[in-house]
Amino acid sequence: MYNNWDELKTECGSCRKCPLADGRTNLVFGTGNENSEVLFIGEGPGEQEDLKGEPFVGRSGQLLDKYLDAIGLDRKKNIYIANMVKCRPPHNRDPKPEEQDACIGWLREQVRLMKPKIIVCVGRISATKLIDPNFKVTKQHGEFIEKNGVLMMGTFHPAALLRNPNNKPAALEDFLALRDKIKEICEHTYTD
Ligand code: URA
Repeated sequence: MYNNWDELKTECGSCRKCPLADGRTNLVFGTGNENSEVLFIGEGPGEQEDLKGEPFVGRSGQLLDKYLDAIGLDRKKNIYIANMVKCRPPHNRDPKPEEQDACIGWLREQVRLMKPKIIVCVGRISATKLIDPNFKVTKQHGEFIEKNGVLMMGTFHPAALLRNPNNKPAALEDFLALRDKIKEICEHTYTD
């Protein structure tokens, strides 16, 4: 348990809990407003993220930023973005269950300090780990489910949307539903 973000960040920065640590250029802790009511959780850093030390800065990230912008969200102002694992899996493969298990304690501490009202799982990896092991993005995207007092929603991963643009309108619907939910239950997201 950490008392504040600085302690957590410092400790996490030297993490060697799993073999992914050996391959990292930078650990990708997360970015955004630490007092946010809305937390986005992706999968893991890719090449660009590893080089920059920031989540979602490659092509997927640019697409994510467009959806965020469409509903008035901004990673520098009123949300926070993190990943299931904080170090890049080699060749952008999915993080292994044991790597996720090794890393999840850091994410849990981020959630504990942030106390978000809404968590958006970006893609299958975080949705199956955090919402439901059987979560099917194509069927359950955009549905809000309460877990431990937090509203959880899963949506398409932008990398999947780049591969299959047919799902882009459905993804936009998810973000519009998110905007409505934020207006309903959040206090300062749209005034930050
Ligand atoms: N994909 C993710 O899931 N997270 C990132 O940070 C970048 C790409």
